[in-house]
Amino acid sequence: MLFAALGPSTTRVRWPGSWLEPVEKVSTAMLRRGFEALTLATLVLGTSLLEDEKIKELMQQMTLDEKVGQLELLSRPWGDDFNGESAQWQETLQRIKGGKLGALFNGQGVEINRELQRVAVEESRLGIPLIFAADVWHGMWTIFPAPLAEAASWEPHLAYETARASAVETTASGLMWTFSPMVDTARDQRWGRNLEGAGEDPFLGEAFAVARVQGFQGNDTRANDSLASCLKHFAGYGGVLGGLDYSESDMSEATFREVFLPPFSAFVETNTATCECESECAAIRAGALTIMSAFQALGGVPATGNRWLLTDVLRSELGFKGFVVTDYNADGEMVNHGFAANQSDAARLALSAGVDMSMHSGAFRHLPDLVSNGSVSHERLDEAVLNVLRAKAAMGLFSNPYKTLDPSKEWPKGQGDKIEAHEQLARRAARKSLVLLKNENEILPLKKRGQRIAVIGWWANSTDTDGVGVIWGNKSHTVTLLQGLEAVLDSSQLRFVHGVDPSDASTLLHGLGKDSLAHAVAAARWADVVLLALGESSPMVGEAKSVTTLELPLGQRLLAEAVAKTKTPTVVLLKNGRALELEGAVRNASAIMVTWFLGKMTGHAIADVLFGDYSPSGRLPISFPIKSGQQPLYYNHLSSGRPCIWGWGWNNCYRDAPGREALFSFGHGLTYSIVEYGSPWLDSPSMPWDGELGIFCNISNRGQRAAHEVVQLYVHDMVASRVRPVKELKGFQKIWLQAQETQTVRFRLKREQLAFATPPHSDSTMLYMVEPGKFLLWVAPSSAAGEPIEFHLAGPPRLI
Ligand code: BGC
Repeated sequence: MLFAALGPSTTRVRWPGSWLEPVEKVSTAMLRRGFEALTLATLVLGTSLLEDEKIKELMQQMTLDEKVGQLELLSRPWGDDFNGESAQWQETLQRIKGGKLGALFNGQGVEINRELQRVAVEESRLGIPLIFAADVWHGMWTIFPAPLAEAASWEPHLAYETARASAVETTASGLMWTFSPMVDTARDQRWGRNLEGAGEDPFLGEAFAVARVQGFQGNDTRANDSLASCLKHFAGYGGVLGGLDYSESDMSEATFREVFLPPFSAFVETNTATCECESECAAIRAGALTIMSAFQALGGVPATGNRWLLTDVLRSELGFKGFVVTDYNADGEMVNHGFAANQSDAARLALSAGVDMSMHSGAFRHLPDLVSNGSVSHERLDEAVLNVLRAKAAMGLFSNPYKTLDPSKEWPKGQGDKIEAHEQLARRAARKSLVLLKNENEILPLKKRGQRIAVIGWWANSTDTDGVGVIWGNKSHTVTLLQGLEAVLDSSQLRFVHGVDPSDASTLLHGLGKDSLAHAVAAARWADVVLLALGESSPMVGEAKSVTTLELPLGQRLLAEAVAKTKTPTVVLLKNGRALELEGAVRNASAIMVTWFLGKMTGHAIADVLFGDYSPSGRLPISFPIKSGQQPLYYNHLSSGRPCIWGWGWNNCYRDAPGREALFSFGHGLTYSIVEYGSPWLDSPSMPWDGELGIFCNISNRGQRAAHEVVQLYVHDMVASRVRPVKELKGFQKIWLQAQETQTVRFRLKREQLAFATPPHSDSTMLYMVEPGKFLLWVAPSSAAGEPIEFHLAGPPRLI
């Protein structure tokens, strides 16, 4: 499934979007300016080929400067006074009138964007519409859980729903294109951008990538509420060395293909599958329209100047048909990499490698000269322009350039029902994202009456709940943890102490302020249970927020130690955008719950789970280390010749920590019940070469409470021509088990899912191979649990 799309098929490629839809609005100016033929052809003839022909005709009318203009993406100037004195606004308007701008980003609002679009459509020579873009990663006004948090739900459909709701709000705010989803597999928790993606596993990452693209774009990329998506950052960015942002990534091609490429190639599966029925067509249209090239060098070549990556892999192998935009200034920064001599050289390298649109750098202003003097081919320039114009057509902009710019529909006008529905979705998504790591003596769920609760910690009454990827957002109604608790408890049962600021330098240097410590200890003594709200704040996570240690800041650890001395049972609530190193009183707390960055409904969602109104259902999409120094730590590492057996020397352990073992492993998460797994069984001991293996397992709830369980399927290839991971996730199902209920879960496994990247013997090109032989599989509640059973795949080694 995963790699099937990489075969040498040419027949499956299909441009997303239907060409048969009626034109909604055609401005007379557009008709005057040469779009008549284009729009009418679309309306009457309805074939992609014909619309393509019309785009090409349009291109014949374009000057070199106008072509290059389509490849430029600039930030919208600050402020609303676009007719005023601002030099930046004047320059932007001149560019639009001259047809020298393809898209603008980070400026929402229907009124201004509509006027800018009017200028583009009515006052520029050819009237080509602009695209309006922004970073909307987990909500425009209603903020949903950050992407990593939502991945912890292990419910891709939830990500579909929140992306769809985000698209509805974003398009009703004058925007058409989001720089999302980030689908970088992240294996090193020191990297600040873990929070933006779906974690360490390519299979889980792929599922969330597809769901998010489908959610943003909907079934029809031309629809008014369809938000074009942008898969980023292509590619290998999640593998930056040392987890340090903007460093190089350097890995084998096999690792690149097996770990970092799948969430990107996933869209090709939907984009290129044969369209046979309406439901499949919907999936086809969900293929991401754009991709962002990454900042870092991959194997010594910057991703943004990497022809192998952007042309050979992305276009030829994966069949991508949308356009490639650089990350912010990534083309210009090739000068700093020492890969380009100057900005002109950077433009030449980026375009020649396969970039179509440049974000912010201005380097593409050198393209007219580069094309004129033959340094860049006319063909490549035309290809880039065609890619951008085709995407504009697929977004429906030629038929309705104002599709997201209707003032009567600007969010939230007349959207009462939707606002309410989105808030409910935000609460549902947030509670599904919570992960219960530990729950000694069943301290959770808490009682609503008869228990005194001290809530202590810097974020307990903070609206810092977004983390990353929120430029606007509606903060006014964000529900803090304290407010969520207050909605459930009588005020006499609750005390709140702020404690210590998240990363206050004076706290780090001098320890905790005596007053707040004394208050915290007094509140803990008074209470029956302490809720200790610790962790990272938004400024501590995200881009350029890499760290050398995953420990909590000293002040917060001291606070935890002081509270622990009171011996009051404590529930640690962690706010975090990456896995943390948990030590001392934090690790030894009675219960630990990961709350990530949950967005608008933070307080209600946490209260829902703390008091048992909602059964905890999240599972870790990343591994929590025992020690920070284990990074990069991920469950699906390759088998070592000397596996770690703690206490025996000369093997794959650290001197001071078990080697690849996690404190809380990928896939881990508890319920409030007792869920037991029976021994899995197979419908046959052998997987037929062209068939599938049925895998069954009885999952029983032995406790007194209903529970969500995430049943996970892992596989290990026992002997192969390349060393294989100790385990790989190949399937998962989330089920709802009533108390005392048993359900039989069924998985199906096909040989394509056992493929790995390997060079064939005859040449050095990487291909995907399935080798027959013995495999182990686990049906388990996490990557660290379960007993394996064996199966066999018969047949000769084959390329798939
Ligand atoms: C980030 C991208 C983001 C872009 C535009 C860059 O710094 O790497 O993820 O989309 O800025 O804001």
